[in-house]
Amino acid sequence: MSGAVFAGRFAGKVLVVTGAAQGIGRSVALRAAAEGGRVLLVDRADFVAEVAAEAAGSAGEASAFTADLETYAGAEAAMAHAVERFGGIDILINNVGGAIRMRPFAAFEPEQIDAEIRRSLMPTLYCCRAVLPHLSARGGGTIVNVSSNATRGIHRVPYSAAKGGINAITQSLAMELADQNIRVVATAPGGTEAPPRRVPRNAEGDTDAERAWMAEVVAQVKQSAFLHRYGTIDEQVAPILFLASDEAGYITGSILPVAGGDLG
Ligand SMILES: NC(=O)c1ccc[n+]([C@@H]2O[C@H](COP(=O)([O-])OP(=O)(O)OC[C@H]3O[C@@H](n4cnc5c(N)ncnc54)[C@H](O)[C@@H]3O)[C@@H](O)[C@H]2O)c1
Repeated sequence: MSGAVFAGRFAGKVLVVTGAAQGIGRSVALRAAAEGGRVLLVDRADFVAEVAAEAAGSAGEASAFTADLETYAGAEAAMAHAVERFGGIDILINNVGGAIRMRPFAAFEPEQIDAEIRRSLMPTLYCCRAVLPHLSARGGGTIVNVSSNATRGIHRVPYSAAKGGINAITQSLAMELADQNIRVVATAPGGTEAPPRRVPRNAEGDTDAERAWMAEVVAQVKQSAFLHRYGTIDEQVAPILFLASDEAGYITGSILPVAGGDLG
């Protein structure tokens, strides 16, 4: 883990971080534990347990749970486990998602469209629903959704649609839950540099054509950003944890672009 650590920022808080085995979710979970949080790392990749073990010795605590969050049963089991392990939930960070394939829309097969929606919309929709009774039992809490600036971008229209759905969940749920002391917020990351993925987005591997379309996406993303570069994982983690913290107490229903000037 790198990046600044605000000692004790999450002391006394229980966080559930989804998609925590690698990438942005992994760093969010490790930093939240370093800042005193008790964190349940949820992923369908079993090496999520290795990531939780990396948090040993940090100010907080970390524990891992494997679940497929594309099912409601998986979402419900993850939340129930957090309550059993840590006694309740204060903060849910819905990070599972990510475009599986980059293709012009006309090249998407129907089942590939469905797969993008299952990956990037359903886990957040399910986890938001599954966590609600637990946040209510606590008298309130916070949900941070990791959306994307790719709601405006080329070659991943089904993913764009899923992330537009994430933005809609954020705004509508924030409105619905405000009087229950539950904040719902989101970040919209731009292109983010990441180490090689242990779990690839596309288990079938990318075709030559998909690699070429990906290069067009990278060029479009860098051109659209005022800063003309990708962000770093730390540059994504910082705003997610700010929004999750009590420092953001008067922010709800907001979708914060974290994309070098590209507003998505
Ligand atoms: N990396 C980027 O450039 C970028 C840009 C914009 C938005 N985002 C968003 O940030 C989030 C994280 O991106 P990343 O690149 O760090 O992700 P990643 O693809 O590297 O990792 C995603 C993690 O989620 C897990 N996962 C996937 N489906 C799951 C399921 N059904 N149940 C449980 N776990 C599941 C995977 O096993 C993996 O550990 C995503 O929502 C993505 O859309 C990323």
